[in-house]
Amino acid sequence: MITNTELEYKGDLYPSKIVSYTHDVDSIYFYTDNSVILKLTVLRDSLIRFRFTTKGYFSNDFSYAIDRSHSHGYNHLEVTEEKTYFQITTNKIICKIQKVDLRASIFDLKGNIILEDELGFHWEECYEFGGNIVKMSKASRDGECFYGLGDKATQLNLKGKRVENFATDQYAFQKEQDPLYKVVPFYIGLHHKQAYGIFFDNTFRTYFDFCHERRNVTSFWAHGGEMNYYFFYGPNMQDVVTSYTDLTGKPELPPLWALGYHQCKWSYYPESNVKEVAAKFRELQIPCDAIYLDIDYMEGFRCFTWNKDYFPDPKRMVSELAQDGFKTIVIIDPGIKIDKEYWVYKEALAKDYFCKRADGPYMKGKVWPGECNFPDFTNPEVREWWAGLFKELISDVGVKGVWNDMNEPAVMEVPNKTFPNDVRHDYDGNPCSHRKAHNIYGTQMARATYHGVKRFSYPKRPFIITRSAYSGAQRYTSSWTGDNIATWEHLWIANIQVQRMSISGMGFTGSDIGGFAEQPTGELYARWIQLGVFHPFCRTHSSGDHGDQEPWAFDEEVIDITRKFVNLRYQLLPYLYTMFWQYIEEGTPMLKPLVYFDQDDIQTHYRNDEFVFGNQILVCPILEPNAQGRRMYIPRGEWYNFWTNCLVKGGKEMWVDTKFDEIPVFIKAGAIIPKYPVQQYVGEKEFDELTLDIYYKEGKEKSVVYEDGQDGYDYKKGRFSFLSFQMTGKEKEVNIQLHKEGKFDTNYTKFKINFIGLPFDIKMIEIDNEEIVFDAKSYKENQYLIVPKDFNVLHIIG
Ligand code: GLC
Repeated sequence: MITNTELEYKGDLYPSKIVSYTHDVDSIYFYTDNSVILKLTVLRDSLIRFRFTTKGYFSNDFSYAIDRSHSHGYNHLEVTEEKTYFQITTNKIICKIQKVDLRASIFDLKGNIILEDELGFHWEECYEFGGNIVKMSKASRDGECFYGLGDKATQLNLKGKRVENFATDQYAFQKEQDPLYKVVPFYIGLHHKQAYGIFFDNTFRTYFDFCHERRNVTSFWAHGGEMNYYFFYGPNMQDVVTSYTDLTGKPELPPLWALGYHQCKWSYYPESNVKEVAAKFRELQIPCDAIYLDIDYMEGFRCFTWNKDYFPDPKRMVSELAQDGFKTIVIIDPGIKIDKEYWVYKEALAKDYFCKRADGPYMKGKVWPGECNFPDFTNPEVREWWAGLFKELISDVGVKGVWNDMNEPAVMEVPNKTFPNDVRHDYDGNPCSHRKAHNIYGTQMARATYHGVKRFSYPKRPFIITRSAYSGAQRYTSSWTGDNIATWEHLWIANIQVQRMSISGMGFTGSDIGGFAEQPTGELYARWIQLGVFHPFCRTHSSGDHGDQEPWAFDEEVIDITRKFVNLRYQLLPYLYTMFWQYIEEGTPMLKPLVYFDQDDIQTHYRNDEFVFGNQILVCPILEPNAQGRRMYIPRGEWYNFWTNCLVKGGKEMWVDTKFDEIPVFIKAGAIIPKYPVQQYVGEKEFDELTLDIYYKEGKEKSVVYEDGQDGYDYKKGRFSFLSFQMTGKEKEVNIQLHKEGKFDTNYTKFKINFIGLPFDIKMIEIDNEEIVFDAKSYKENQYLIVPKDFNVLHIIG
């Protein structure tokens, strides 16, 4: 029985000396005396893969995480043999491999050490299952910091922590509880202004130890599989994260409505209840784009069926909701009820698509419907079948999104909460046990769901959300952080988890706003909405067994706060959509923890609460009851308080006053923030102006706005509009240069410009070097300018 394997153990084995090496294009193979081979592959000048075997040969190279379209290619690769080591030099780094024991050390081109093996690769043979427990240890330096690892519910900087990766249904998890639902074996190290990353692409149960067991050692190990990891060189965290995201893939753009507000509960039923909830949003004028049907819409929790007592005519209901701007999203779990009369069960049985135990019987376990079998989503033929099952839901009924849950996979009433280890999986033609497939089961389910929903939604875009995920899942799906609790501590956790997911390549994430388990007070709910509207995915969800969690379950003040913040999110949709575009184009995280935003400022290294939403909006939630404000760190640079428009100089911690209907929000000086009018749902209104809030700064600042048809795939054929504004502020003038790319023509024809912090009175305005009529009196009254959207240079003179 393997337990929490300690890093070092007497039975550990180590590579012995290198006896030969070969160099084959981008890969260098080092062979040791005791049958260890290190295959070192240079993917890019700053990205190296290390792959070890102890058998004398490599098994088939297969990964679910790596995106086949990732960029590779380097400018320079040179291998030289020195007396005691081999040296691999690229355009960015130097890597030395010791002849005596295969240990690696990596340097920048100036010779500064970036990362060095401590014991390096070692392993323990595993008699029970065969193969090895593979281990790696690296030397860590004082002051080194660590970030990443997906959804861990602990402080952002992981220094001093040990974490475990094993996808787990962790109902009502606690702070520091580990493992949780997601598995992202990727971390970023930061030391002396140099950042690097490690992605340990191994789907077995893995562990990372960041100077927890030994002060100056970082290590990671897995219960099986290969020591197979990627090293990313920064030196900026931006480079590490974007490179990791490039390697494991980016999503397509979601439909814009998916960035709106979503309302969920376990469960809204029958139809009249769903309609009532939807109508109340419209009555109270709180924008909402999506409503969810949790497991009770099904007939006895059988996926792809409807309870006809509750929902006699789903198609009519879905279309009536759609007429009012609501998209219907339904839950689909992996467990298929064992029921000889049930069509999905019968099909899967006939085709032999369920996972089997080692000795042949189907894997059987209890979930919501009672005893279930589970499709083997690691089999491509099963995925294809599963995708086809969505035809009726999407094409006929008109459902717009699918919610995959319980896909860790969760099994009830068993101590390990999941499949036993011996369950067999196809693993895309690399048959294996559940030990290897467990962590990617949920991702393969979401992948199959994505393909199905996409196929039947076409030419519209699909929307998928999953609970469990492994690195790379972001290519197919968004995610939420699982079954949290309505406590202040969980608000803190949600803030960390979503930031952490963002720098772990999986940015389209949110938490159950208000908490899933237990009942939030109105105050807690309000504080959670105030944070939630700044998360890429924004949904209220609750277990529903303790009262309601719609905004109107609370008092008037909370309803008003909810409306105010959801309105703000809808106004910021073009800004949010632009963030998303930067994420899919460049791999840029949508939320930036302060350390990511300014790694050179050591004050940011241990900050948890503040983050930058996109590139120019600094947000800090209120995480305590009865707060009149809070202390927070303002990163370097100049920032406008969003509520008061007062300018503050950053690089310091300060107290910020807030009322109950505010949280600290600051806008970077120089930013141009695009806004739409408030709409009750995306596409409700046609409008002729895009609002631009221009925050004056002396100096230069660039801002961009991405727009397209808000759904569909024309954007991939160049039908998008990308505006890039270069603003230059001087003592008595502001100059804005506008550059436009793309073939999409937005409906609006004008910009409505608000100046914030302009230090002079406007006397004259020129557009493309020609003076236009400027009505100073009307400007004074209205405080905005209307200008045509097609200018090249806008010149404001004081
Ligand atoms: C799980 C999910 C939760 C859902 C419930 C019922 O607990 O995490 O979001 O509401 O199952 O389907």
